[in-house]
Amino acid sequence: MADAVDLRTDVPHSARIYDYLLGGKDNYPADRGAAGNIVKDWINLPKSMRANRHFMRRATGFLAAEHGFRQFLDIGTGLPTAPNLHEVVQGVAPDARIVYVDNDPIVLVHARALLTSSPGGRTTYLDADFRDPEAILSSPELKGTLDLGLPVALSLFAILQFVVDDAVAKGVIDRLMEPLASGSVLALSTVTADSAPEEVESGVAGYNAGGIPTRARNRTEVEHLFDGYELLDPGIVLVNHWRPDEQAAAVPDEHVHMYGGVARKP
Ligand SMILES: C[S@@+](CC[C@H](N)C(=O)[O-])C[C@H]1O[C@@H](n2cnc3c(N)ncnc32)[C@H](O)[C@@H]1O
Repeated sequence: MADAVDLRTDVPHSARIYDYLLGGKDNYPADRGAAGNIVKDWINLPKSMRANRHFMRRATGFLAAEHGFRQFLDIGTGLPTAPNLHEVVQGVAPDARIVYVDNDPIVLVHARALLTSSPGGRTTYLDADFRDPEAILSSPELKGTLDLGLPVALSLFAILQFVVDDAVAKGVIDRLMEPLASGSVLALSTVTADSAPEEVESGVAGYNAGGIPTRARNRTEVEHLFDGYELLDPGIVLVNHWRPDEQAAAVPDEHVHMYGGVARKP
């Protein structure tokens, strides 16, 4: 698979910068250089990313355990990082089925590590772009894995900061949610500067200078992404405040630069 893919290791990629800042090994000098420049200003970015990853675990575990979700569509999956979403939800429900989607060639190369489903469940990986929801929804990978007659949890964790145009982001979310059954949910997290304005704005400028279009959203802008859906408690909060366990509750707000929320399709 790797031979067929141009990894463009000479230019920084968001998935590899994220992997590097989380302590992973799937990154190259261009990614490490860009990451170094970004964290010079955005010093708490690695902490914020860990808080986001922890939010992913709580939110999806909650949906599987408390709301009985067995179907997950995760777009902007990123490189495998323990525990992956399927490990969290199959730890609750071994029959859970997961479709992972990302458009980064290096995530594709490592996708095999995401396909370690429990025997009763299923995971599939789709190389596709969030901005082409029809390609995702009509793919054999999705159709062969998820039953759209039953509720699906659509997750967009830490991807929408790279979709800078609000109309595009909202339009794609709604096109993805449209064919999903009533009772499906939208779970997302995205970057905000509300908790540390100077630090995040200069860090976001660093991403843009590295050739990765990125933006922070304020609470009102994040609320707009959920228009038409019913937010579950506690609404849109810094991710460390979303149904926190002891570990999340101990993280100071100024180290968390992500809003998160989960909402239900009526
Ligand atoms: C910061 S990582 C987040 C990984 C994971 N969801 C998490 O929260 O830990 C963002 C991921 O979104 C992917 N991504 C960015 N733009 C995308 C797009 N237009 N379509 C699909 N994936 C995209 C990147 O390749 C990267 O893997």
